[in-house]
Amino acid sequence: MAHRILTQNWFKPGYNTIEGYKKEGGFSSLRRVLAMKPDEVIEAVKVSNLRGRGGAGFPTGLKWSFVPKDSPKPKYLCVNADESEPGTYKDRVLMEQDPFSLMEGIAIASWALGVHTAYIYIRGEFLEQAEILQKAIADCYAEGIFGKSILDSGHRLDVYVHRGAGAYICGEETGLLNSLEGGKGWPRLKPPFPAVSGLFGCPTVVNNVETIATLPTIFRIGPKEYASLGAEKSGGTRLVCVSGHVNKPGVYEIPMNLTFWDLIHDEKWCGGIPGGRKVKAVIPGGSSAPVLTAEELHVAAEYEALKVKDNMAGSGAVIVMDETTCMVRAAWRISKFYAEESCGQCTPCREGTPWMERILRKIEEGHGEPKDLELLVSVARAIAPYPPIGLGTTICALGDAAAVPVQAFVMKFRHEFEQHIREHRCPFPHPFGQLAEEVVRQ
Ligand SMILES: Cc1cc2nc3c(=O)[nH]c(=O)nc-3n(C[C@H](O)[C@H](O)[C@H](O)COP(=O)(O)O)c2cc1C
Repeated sequence: MAHRILTQNWFKPGYNTIEGYKKEGGFSSLRRVLAMKPDEVIEAVKVSNLRGRGGAGFPTGLKWSFVPKDSPKPKYLCVNADESEPGTYKDRVLMEQDPFSLMEGIAIASWALGVHTAYIYIRGEFLEQAEILQKAIADCYAEGIFGKSILDSGHRLDVYVHRGAGAYICGEETGLLNSLEGGKGWPRLKPPFPAVSGLFGCPTVVNNVETIATLPTIFRIGPKEYASLGAEKSGGTRLVCVSGHVNKPGVYEIPMNLTFWDLIHDEKWCGGIPGGRKVKAVIPGGSSAPVLTAEELHVAAEYEALKVKDNMAGSGAVIVMDETTCMVRAAWRISKFYAEESCGQCTPCREGTPWMERILRKIEEGHGEPKDLELLVSVARAIAPYPPIGLGTTICALGDAAAVPVQAFVMKFRHEFEQHIREHRCPFPHPFGQLAEEVVRQ
């Protein structure tokens, strides 16, 4: 399949070893890059139209160009492997199947940015994956890919794995930096942005695992060719991880022009909904993204196409819900996550997230009153009014991530919320059983 440029070797026996990676041409991009000037590499990444795969979709080459060249301070690269956004598991599979693309990407980025120390900040629960990375790093040192002079270029590069402790907020780039420094994982006010003042107050680039692991592909096929495979402002292909009510959930490498409707229904991709049921709603980019109705699914799963619909490609997590799903319950479940994970630094998020969770639970359990819906929306709007995305009142986007989905659920499925309130009950069966805390309360 022509679109598989990133995942073409995944699941091939031995590919995730250094020998297997080299057999498939691994590290040839790094050799090519080391023959280029760092500025040329940054320019090439700009030409490729690569956009960050961590959530915001920021153009990678542009981010790199913000790093001051004349700074006397050391520069750092931090790979964000925190992957805690509900529904997201593409980086985990990437690290398991293709750890050496990540290693080669780290070496490429470090050369371009003048970095001598790189960190991979990995979600605490990913113990097995952290071990895979440690082994891959050791292999790279042994082969001269990392170390005193990478591939005899004279460029020194040391790479470390740092395990988090299971806090979603540490995936936010400045929370990550504080955590890496040994502090509390509270996000920082921006500006200054990490590119100027990041880790230990030094210029730092934070990039997602997939973003960095895509670099070898870009320099293998060429930045122009990579750009031409994608949409106007989003080069290449991207990974999505599909979960929920589809026949074939999993990680897919998709072309940028693929619509959610085709991704879900086409036999080549997820193969439709189990039992021939109909799709009701889809969360297109992780639990922070506004829900789409079935009628809205003919939009391409690409950054700009989603932006014009007041939506986002986010972390690549596509969560599919069929007609048996209760939208109040779905909103409540998501809300519970954010209430739990709010770091407590900003008042609207600290107070608002548990408040929204309590109201949603009240409605789902049949105790909702008509005034609760207005209250719910007003609490959400005080954290981040929607649409559009990005008007939040908090230091980081966790507030937006919590408040935007709630408003989208109410806006698009208001009749379900009203039915719960009118009938004093949830009209949907719960085929997957009760939420854990319901069981505890019984
Ligand atoms: C609450 C929160 C959690 C986040 N979690 C992650 C994460 O787990 N992984 C990730 O790559 N980016 C995450 N991000 C986005 C990062 O802040 C940052 O934008 C990203 O790592 C930049 O990489 P990119 O430019 O390659 O996308 C999160 C953002 C927020 C607000």
